[in-house]
Amino acid sequence: MSEQDKVFIFDTTLRDGEQSPGATMSHAEKLEIAGLLDEMGVDIIEAGFPIASEGDFAAVKAISEQAKNSVICGLARANFKDIDRCWEAVKHAKRPRIHTFIGTSPLHRAIPNLNMDEMADRIHETVTHARNLCDNVQWSPMDATRTEEDYLCRTVEIAIKAGATTINIPDTVGYTAPRESAALIQMLLERVPGADEIIFATHCHNDLGMATANSLAAVEAGARQIECTINGLGERAGNTALEEVVMALKVRNDIMPYQTGIDSTKLMNISRRVASVSGFAVQFNKAIVGKNAFAHESGIHQDGMLKNAETFEIMRPEDVGLQATNIVLGKHSGRAALRSKLAELGYELGDNQLKDVFVRFKTLADQKKEVYDDDLIALMQSGDAEA
Ligand code: KIV
Ligand code: ZN
Repeated sequence: MSEQDKVFIFDTTLRDGEQSPGATMSHAEKLEIAGLLDEMGVDIIEAGFPIASEGDFAAVKAISEQAKNSVICGLARANFKDIDRCWEAVKHAKRPRIHTFIGTSPLHRAIPNLNMDEMADRIHETVTHARNLCDNVQWSPMDATRTEEDYLCRTVEIAIKAGATTINIPDTVGYTAPRESAALIQMLLERVPGADEIIFATHCHNDLGMATANSLAAVEAGARQIECTINGLGERAGNTALEEVVMALKVRNDIMPYQTGIDSTKLMNISRRVASVSGFAVQFNKAIVGKNAFAHESGIHQDGMLKNAETFEIMRPEDVGLQATNIVLGKHSGRAALRSKLAELGYELGDNQLKDVFVRFKTLADQKKEVYDDDLIALMQSGDAEA
């Protein structure tokens, strides 16, 4: 595959993810997560917002010193003080990046009370300043998806001319839909001079549950960097989930022929670590990393799975770092699954014996959400006692 087909994965678990109320991580936890992201093949790690606090600065600096392969990025608002502080933290990395942003939509322009021309000047000055410090500069027009198209094109052109090497297009409030997400990237690529010389990134929030779809639509239109977080951690409904875009690009490579550098077998472990250190449990039915993502309870599904796993699974559990599919025994399970589970536990049953155990199993399953191995052993032992 050519370099053009590579999609860079930019992880912002430690910056946008940590902005979720209550998700604060300790210094040591951030270093651990950054180490796992680096090992997993994340191209760019947004390690924090150095001006935000002494703790954030120290974490970004330490992650910069520790990083082996990933580019380490820090966030800075559009002013020299933020950008200088960010550079002080990331300059220790082998491959540093400064990410600076300003809100360009009418609602966001009203906050610093800048008119369009004043904001354009601010973008020119701040991106130029960042580029004088660092070769690798990312610029984001916050709330891009609610910014007037002409003004968005104007500001993106200014940032590119001032030296930005990546232009990130945030859907800050999770408002866009897949078709619009694609059209926006396509429009920018067509209209902005110099757009073909930089990388466009997509940064989606999940307020309407469309972050993954919007990110993939942007890639199909020409974006080559996806910004995301582990488990979709992030403010409100969160950010695009890293594990979802990575596995979607892997499993549906037939229709989305782009590659990432992520070792997907490390997804489950990092998901669990992020859930544990952030205190944000992963919902059971979460795609890819949820407890039930590779679990089957119904008899029809279990029977199909025991014959051929592809009947009800589109990816192998091993591909995301799980050992095996989880056949969960409950009231919807059938004889085939019960027989297979009992065999695993060392009980080989004939047809008549199975018939009897199956009746007792169903009575038990009606009383319990899930029948565990210990329950089955007790069931077998009580059968022995009765015999
Ligand atoms: O959602 C957003 O707009 C952001 C920016 C700071 C890039 O996180
Ligand atoms: Zn964001």
